[in-house]
Amino acid sequence: MWLGGLTNDFERDGRTQLCKLLRTGLSPDSTVVEVGCGALRAGYWLIHFLDEGRYHGIEPNREMVDTARAALLEPGLEELKRPRFAYNDDFDLGVFGVAPEFVLARSIWSHASKRQIAAMLDSFKSVAAPQATLLSSYHPASRFPWRRRDYLGDAWVGRGPRGTGPEHRAVVAHRFDWIAGECQRRSLRVRESAGDSFGGQVWLEVTKG
Ligand SMILES: C[S@@+](CC[C@H](N)C(=O)[O-])C[C@H]1O[C@@H](n2cnc3c(N)ncnc32)[C@H](O)[C@@H]1O
Repeated sequence: MWLGGLTNDFERDGRTQLCKLLRTGLSPDSTVVEVGCGALRAGYWLIHFLDEGRYHGIEPNREMVDTARAALLEPGLEELKRPRFAYNDDFDLGVFGVAPEFVLARSIWSHASKRQIAAMLDSFKSVAAPQATLLSSYHPASRFPWRRRDYLGDAWVGRGPRGTGPEHRAVVAHRFDWIAGECQRRSLRVRESAGDSFGGQVWLEVTKG
């Protein structure tokens, strides 16, 4: 099964995301929406930590998330914690009808187009709770064109919900100043979130208010 990234570090990288959210203020009664929750790398830990009904995962690859639910989640856990899942691919964070305090997106902007990132920011702005935080990892584009170029295409790149081709390892990069400008236009704040970088990706913390 495709796990949505490096297999060796699956367990550690899941725990790291829980720790990162905890340092950002996550508590058991926080409401979380994870975009592209994949094979529940973070979802496994979050579902255990959060109170009933607080974890929400969006993943257009339904087979992937349902396989992970069956393989990873202990019997009875879903009945106890009542995680919810949606399979939309339009970056609509409002699909569950809740106002999340935390939105998590690991290895999503590293495949997404600028239009898709903008759609996520729009949805975060309109749906998330007033003091909400969006934690998103991305590949910073280099100002040197022979390094990682700023991605200007319109499509998702890499293995998506349907893609299984040889391009599945492809990633894209975005300029921080473009992201900062998009946040500013929506009265959102953004800063690099220190530590926990992985595979060349760094974390950003986008906040409302
Ligand atoms: C590189 S994987 C990361 C998965 C997970 N966040 C992790 O860290 O293991 C990217 C994920 O984004 C999902 N994806 C693709 N298009 C998407 C979309 N439009 N909205 C949300 N997720 C999407 C893919 O199916 C895949 O599970």
